[in-house]
Amino acid sequence: MEKDARFWSRIAEKYAATPLPDEAVYRKKIEVTQEYLRPDMNVFEFGCGTGSTSIIHAPKVRYILAIDIADGMLEIAERKAREQKISNLEFKRASIEELEIERHSFDAVLGLSILHLLKDKDQVIAKAFRILKPNGVFITSTTCIADFFKFHKLLTWCGTFGRFIGLLPRVNAFGREELEASIKSAGFHLEYKWQPEGKGKAQAVFIVARKPDTP
Ligand SMILES: C[S@@+](CC[C@H](N)C(=O)[O-])C[C@H]1O[C@@H](n2cnc3c(N)ncnc32)[C@H](O)[C@@H]1O
Repeated sequence: MEKDARFWSRIAEKYAATPLPDEAVYRKKIEVTQEYLRPDMNVFEFGCGTGSTSIIHAPKVRYILAIDIADGMLEIAERKAREQKISNLEFKRASIEELEIERHSFDAVLGLSILHLLKDKDQVIAKAFRILKPNGVFITSTTCIADFFKFHKLLTWCGTFGRFIGLLPRVNAFGREELEASIKSAGFHLEYKWQPEGKGKAQAVFIVARKPDTP
């Protein structure tokens, strides 16, 4: 975990300065997400990076807790939130695996560009389910590496080596089918799915999944 935290901290300024790969796609994901947000909602984002998405959503909800393992990312996030005078958004240094959160705490959980970076996505998806209130939504955008990179096993191996020497973060290669199956087996219903056109299967898969009303 510390290795990944150091990697992401080191590249934080560069990450913040890099233009979005596709502005229109990002806008649409924001718009779709906001269709599910309400002013009385408490929201949780894990792997928030430089906080851009939580900062955009904060005026639409009651409260957001956004976590990340990388101090470098969080420093930028906090600076931006301060500059924009956002007061209902709290950033915290924590890993999604280790942070303790009571069940039924949040109305929406966001995990954007993060599931493919985790050791055990199923454990984290199950946690998202547990901390959501009944009828809450889990919104995720995930690069499904195994669908477009034939040599993903090699990538995983190189990633392990790159991570060992601190040059790469952890990468977990899985495909869209596996991702959807994981989300469903945690107990969610898939309510909205979108994989933008262009770049083929290299585009991240955007999913809104709902926790059923009754347990
Ligand atoms: C690719 S960035 C995505 C940032 C942001 N969600 C976005 O869409 O721009 C991945 C982020 O996840 C964070 N991260 C990686 N592993 C994590 C973990 N186990 N728990 C919490 N955050 C993690 C990294 O520090 C990094 O900021």
